[in-house]
Amino acid sequence: MKIFLDTANLESIKKFNDMGLLDGITTNPSLMSKEGGNPKNAMEEITKIIQGDVSLEVVSTEYSGMMEEGKRLREYGDNVVVKVPMTPDGLKACKSFSSQGIPVNVTLIFSANQALLAAKSGAKYVSPFIGRLDDIGQDGMNLIKEIKTIFSNYTFKTQILVASVRHPLHVIDAAKIGADVVTLPPGVLEKMLQHPLTKIGLDNFLADWEKLKLKNPDTKI
Ligand code: G3P
Repeated sequence: MKIFLDTANLESIKKFNDMGLLDGITTNPSLMSKEGGNPKNAMEEITKIIQGDVSLEVVSTEYSGMMEEGKRLREYGDNVVVKVPMTPDGLKACKSFSSQGIPVNVTLIFSANQALLAAKSGAKYVSPFIGRLDDIGQDGMNLIKEIKTIFSNYTFKTQILVASVRHPLHVIDAAKIGADVVTLPPGVLEKMLQHPLTKIGLDNFLADWEKLKLKNPDTKI
C-alpha cells in the first residue's frame, strides 16, 4: 500500500520524506489555506521535494476553467496529478485530461457509484472521504470495500486513494481491504510510528548496555 501525506506543510513533508516513508502528497484548497503562505511557493516546493505523485486541486467549477487550471498546475512538474471534484464538469475534465495522458485524482467521492463513474472517466485515483462519512454516521470503510469489489470485478486500473483518514485503525482496515493508497494527515503517520512498548524496550536495552559498559569500559559496537 502506498502512503501519501495529506498536507501542504513543508516541514512535515520534508520530515517524513527524509525518513523514506512517502510515495506522494495530496493537497486541497483547505490544506493550502491552513498553511497561510503563497500557494504558488508551496506547490513549487512540494513538487521539487517529492518524486512521487503530487495532487494539486483546481478551484474552477466549470469544465473550461478546470482545463485551464489543470494545465497550469501541470507546469509545476511531471509528477502533478490534477485533482478535480466529483461533479459532471469534473468528470468531463477527467476524461479530457486522461485522454491526453494527464493523470487525474477525482476527489470528494462519497458513494460507490461516484467511484465507478470516475473510474469510467479514466481517473488514475478516486478519493473516497471515509472520515467525513463516519462523521455523519455512515460506514466509511464499507465504501472502500464496495469500491474494491467493483474495481476488481471489471479490472479497472483506477487506484483507490483512501482520504479523510482520522486515525491509525483506518489505515489498518484500509490495508486489510487492499486499498492502493492511504493519504494521511501528519499526525496519523506520527501515531503509526509509536508504540509504548517500543520506547520501554529501548530504554531497558540502553540501561542494560550502560551497566555492561561499567564492567567493560573499552567496549564499543
Ligand atoms: O485530501 C482531503 C481529505 O483527506 C480531507 O480530509 O479530514 O478534511 O475530512 P478531512
